[in-house]
Amino acid sequence: MLSNLLLFICILFSCFIFTAHSYNNKCLLHQETLLLQLKDELIFNSSLSTKLVRWNESGECCKWPGVECDASGHVVSLQLHDEGIYGGIGDSSSLFRFKYLQKLNLANNDFHFDLIPKGIGSLTYLTHLNLSYAGFRGQVPYEISFLKRLVSLDISSRDAFYFKTISVVHPNLEMLVQNLTELRELHLNGANMTSFHERENRGNITSSHLPNLTTLSMVGCILYGPLPKSIWQLHSLSILRLDETDLSAVSLHDLFTNFPSLTTLTLSGCRLKGSIPTSFASLTKLIHVDMSYNSLTGSLPSALFANLTKLIHVDLSSNSLAGSLPSTFFEGLSNLVHLYLEQNSFFGNIPCSLFALPSLLELDLRYNRFNGTFQLENFRSLPNLTSLRLSSNSLSVYVGNTNSSSYGGRKLKELCLSLCNLSSFPDFIKHLDLVTLDLSKNLIEGEIPSWIWGTQLDVLDLL
Ligand SMILES: *[C@@H]1O[C@H](CO)[C@@H](O)[C@H](O)[C@H]1NC(C)=O
Ligand SMILES: *[C@@H]1O[C@H](CO)[C@@H](O)[C@H](O)[C@H]1NC(C)=O
Ligand SMILES: *[C@@H]1O[C@H](CO)[C@@H](O)[C@H](O)[C@H]1NC(C)=O
Ligand SMILES: *[C@@H]1O[C@H](CO)[C@@H](O)[C@H](O)[C@H]1NC(C)=O
Ligand SMILES: *[C@@H]1O[C@H](CO)[C@@H](O)[C@H](O)[C@H]1NC(C)=O
Ligand SMILES: *[C@@H]1O[C@H](CO)[C@@H](O)[C@H](O)[C@H]1NC(C)=O
Ligand SMILES: *[C@@H]1O[C@H](CO)[C@@H](O)[C@H](O)[C@H]1NC(C)=O
Ligand SMILES: *[C@@H]1O[C@H](CO)[C@@H](O)[C@H](O)[C@H]1NC(C)=O
Ligand SMILES: *[C@@H]1O[C@H](CO)[C@@H](O)[C@H](O)[C@H]1NC(C)=O
Ligand SMILES: *[C@@H]1O[C@H](CO)[C@@H](O)[C@H](O)[C@H]1NC(C)=O
Ligand SMILES: *[C@@H]1O[C@H](CO)[C@@H](O)[C@H](O)[C@H]1NC(C)=O
Ligand SMILES: *[C@@H]1O[C@H](CO)[C@@H](O)[C@H](O)[C@H]1NC(C)=O
Repeated sequence: MLSNLLLFICILFSCFIFTAHSYNNKCLLHQETLLLQLKDELIFNSSLSTKLVRWNESGECCKWPGVECDASGHVVSLQLHDEGIYGGIGDSSSLFRFKYLQKLNLANNDFHFDLIPKGIGSLTYLTHLNLSYAGFRGQVPYEISFLKRLVSLDISSRDAFYFKTISVVHPNLEMLVQNLTELRELHLNGANMTSFHERENRGNITSSHLPNLTTLSMVGCILYGPLPKSIWQLHSLSILRLDETDLSAVSLHDLFTNFPSLTTLTLSGCRLKGSIPTSFASLTKLIHVDMSYNSLTGSLPSALFANLTKLIHVDLSSNSLAGSLPSTFFEGLSNLVHLYLEQNSFFGNIPCSLFALPSLLELDLRYNRFNGTFQLENFRSLPNLTSLRLSSNSLSVYVGNTNSSSYGGRKLKELCLSLCNLSSFPDFIKHLDLVTLDLSKNLIEGEIPSWIWGTQLDVLDLL
């Protein structure tokens, strides 16, 4: 009997839900009024705006561009990035009266170097807050720490050089995020975490504060001294970006073993020293790695990539890496799209496993010491290659006994063969439509063939 009653109530209830859903996204009048007030308050360049300019009384406000409502008609998402907003925004702005707001994106605007308004702390339903490159500067208000449902926070800024950056000093990062336990993504690029007086305030965040954090991006943060050790405890990170941060005191082995789940690791310009340890080979989930512009030395472990078969993007350029690469070095990297090894001191033959990477689009080996002879024909097995840069090695490149027509249909757009001991114009170029061609510093003599100009050639160097 009781269960029958319950069933009846359930049916009634789901019927109610069904009715409620049929009113889905019906704009509530007070929400529409609030949206129009907000539009009035914001100062924006109407020739850059694509959303705000189109907000008006005609039509359903939940369908206005950049606006989303929940089933009961409350605005839950405002995507106002790239809207040419250039005025400030006060604590009493209508923005802070959208009590049910879950997602707010104000990225890429120009809020005139204003502080982030404290009013933001009243939007306690926020799960996604994106204030990146919005022209805010100065200390991030304490009120951000009230947003306990935040899953994603992006307060990246730029112009650190002109002191127009976001600061996370008082309160420091630990105070701001320690209660934001749901946080998965934290982007603090360009943030100032330096207090000259209290040197320990440098962004102490631990996995006990943020158990679910998987993305941490701190590109070009202003830090006084090295990163706090606590960051090494965020073992479940899958995306870690620390470019332009001083990691000269960091052990790469510790870094690679502390973050076993990394899919993206970018450490460009971090003053990394020493050689790449074999523990790198255990990051089997890695898809994107950038360790360019460091002072890495030594040769690469011979089976470095053996188990890193998910790699799509590898950039080790502009270091002092040396040694020869075994011919099997790139075997199995069937997803690799970009490979940048330029500006190092690698020598020996170009490993032939390179010619069996079906997905390869860009290969840059310039400014190394690769030597020996090299048959350009090898690259015929890479039909989708768009950029091939072999300049300034000690190679003697042979264009070979090519059957020109078999080069037809290739997608090569950029070919750099400066200083490659070429003695004639490689005539397979006829069949390509290059944008960039560098044949400088070779032994080529005679007239420039007319076919060299192609239809879209932009850069030509024959000197
Ligand atoms: C609005 O943007 C356009 C295009 O960038 C620019 O030419 C114009 O000067 C801007 N107007 C104002 C008032 O900033
Ligand atoms: C009002 O908004 C609609 C759709 O958002 C747009 O097509 C129309 O041009 C707008 N009208 C005015 C006067 O801005
Ligand atoms: C913030 O918004 C900008 C512009 O839409 C976007 O490029 C960026 O990826 C966003 N950040 C996050 C964490 O989603
Ligand atoms: C960083 O913040 C501190 C404390 O607010 C301030 O003294 C310092 O000038 C800021 N540095 C930069 C580069 O903005
Ligand atoms: C974090 O939450 C605790 C308990 O709710 C509270 O005592 C503390 O003041 C909060 N800290 C911040 C920075 O919000
Ligand atoms: C972390 O994420 C898991 C799975 O999504 C969730 O169940 C858990 O509640 C989250 N933990 C915290 C502290 O938010
Ligand atoms: C960092 O946070 C942890 C955990 O709250 C704490 O034990 C440690 O003392 C803090 N370290 C610094 C330098 O503040
Ligand atoms: C690759 O994985 C296999 C199987 O897990 C393992 O035996 C081998 O040692 C790994 N190789 C490297 C270089 O890590
Ligand atoms: C080349 O690109 C085409 C189109 O993007 C794709 O279908 C094809 O599978 C690619 N070939 C190889 C060998 O990856
Ligand atoms: C390539 O350079 C290495 C190191 O300088 C040298 O040992 C080797 O003989 C050279 N190989 C060729 C084919 O010139
Ligand atoms: C350069 O090419 C010429 C023939 O075109 C060859 O005789 C010479 O050995 C090559 N030089 C080097 C360093 O391989
Ligand atoms: C050149 O290659 C094409 C396509 O692979 C083939 O049909 C043709 O017979 C070849 N010509 C010569 C002279 O080998």
